[in-house]
Amino acid sequence: MLYLQLAKMRGKVPNKNAGPQDTLLYYESQSVKSKRRNCCCVCCLTVLIITLVIAILGFLLIFVGFPMLFKNSIQLQTSIVFPTEELLPLRPEFGNFGKYNISGSRNFYITVDEDRHVVLGVWHLLPDALVNRLSNKSDECSYMQSLADLDYPVLIHFHENGGNRIKYIEMYKVLRQFFHVIAFDYRGYADSSPVQPTESDIVKDSIALYKWVQSQTEAAIYLWGHGIGSALSAHTAARLHEENIVPAGVFLEAPFPTIKEQLKACSPFKSMFSWMPWYEVTMLEPLETNGFSLNTNDYVLKVDCPIMIVHAKDDYTTPFSLGVKVLKNAQKRDPTLQGSVVFHQLSHKFGFGHDYIYKWDDLSEAIKNHTEVCERFQVKMHY
Ligand SMILES: *[C@@H]1O[C@H](CO)[C@@H](O)[C@H](O)[C@H]1NC(C)=O
Ligand SMILES: *[C@@H]1O[C@H](CO)[C@@H](O)[C@H](O)[C@H]1NC(C)=O
Ligand SMILES: *[C@@H]1O[C@H](CO)[C@@H](O)[C@H](O)[C@H]1NC(C)=O
Repeated sequence: MLYLQLAKMRGKVPNKNAGPQDTLLYYESQSVKSKRRNCCCVCCLTVLIITLVIAILGFLLIFVGFPMLFKNSIQLQTSIVFPTEELLPLRPEFGNFGKYNISGSRNFYITVDEDRHVVLGVWHLLPDALVNRLSNKSDECSYMQSLADLDYPVLIHFHENGGNRIKYIEMYKVLRQFFHVIAFDYRGYADSSPVQPTESDIVKDSIALYKWVQSQTEAAIYLWGHGIGSALSAHTAARLHEENIVPAGVFLEAPFPTIKEQLKACSPFKSMFSWMPWYEVTMLEPLETNGFSLNTNDYVLKVDCPIMIVHAKDDYTTPFSLGVKVLKNAQKRDPTLQGSVVFHQLSHKFGFGHDYIYKWDDLSEAIKNHTEVCERFQVKMHY
């Protein structure tokens, strides 16, 4: 009874059905709790301190450790610039054109680096006009023969850094109205040799591919690059310039001036890291030091043929303003010796963004116009 009284004084009445034994236990537990209260404060403080330490360590790890690791890891930098593990479209079958509903095409492999046994997977899509003429004898020989005939120029297509050559089928359908389309995967991508790509190695491979095309035909050769592919195609043209080899024309789809500006505008880690005062020093500048400069601004100055740039205003992967910067720089070239630059800006209202410029109704006409400009330029320069 006494215990029950005490419990009431504390304002807490135990269960009415509880016997004296239960009440005793209740009272005792109250007493222990009050003793624990002090102890609990110490506990809370400890937990707080531990949490704080973990938070600080986590912060340092993520915002200091990772940037420092990134700064010093070529592997990590490569995975950002050339994410070869992005496998879309899934389950590619490079030799199965039926699966992708394209006819008049051939899949083959060429060795571009004998020493390191680097092989590239390549598609050759015939110009539309030749598809029916050749489809009944789609052996390698007739493809080579059609490339050697000078009826159609050749276009080498450089894809973006994600995915593979299958991703661009819709664009090839536009391009093959005018060209033999040679589409390839960079080293490290798709069915090309699984070696880690670098900018200079990709450019070396591209030069080897260009020279292979030259060895097959005397037809005019054009380059087309999308996103990072535009930097790589411009770089390839700039390197060919050193060997006095001049492509007939260059097309830059959604180009950027340098990889640094591209990543500053849009990168997988921009939203997380760009606030850091050490962001540029640890996460942007090391790319240049390690040979990922992708400096289209420099390369275009050494492109000695007319350039066409096409960029959508609603491109949020490579912002439109970056394409304008490339244009401004390309305009520094000498137009009489290096050819003109034409820039097509595509309105927001189309909704083409970064990946759907092939849907532009006037794209065929723009390409046709540009090839005519390039042909006139070639005649003038006696190439
Ligand atoms: C396949 O392509 C042809 C012409 O390129 C087109 O007429 C046809 O509708 C396409 N078929 C499918 C299933 O996409
Ligand atoms: C190609 O083969 C198809 C039947 O498979 C035939 O109808 C067509 O006439 C042939 N074309 C040429 C150019 O021989
Ligand atoms: C192509 O050139 C013609 C004649 O110069 C011009 O009228 C037309 O707008 C051009 N088309 C495109 C898409 O640039």
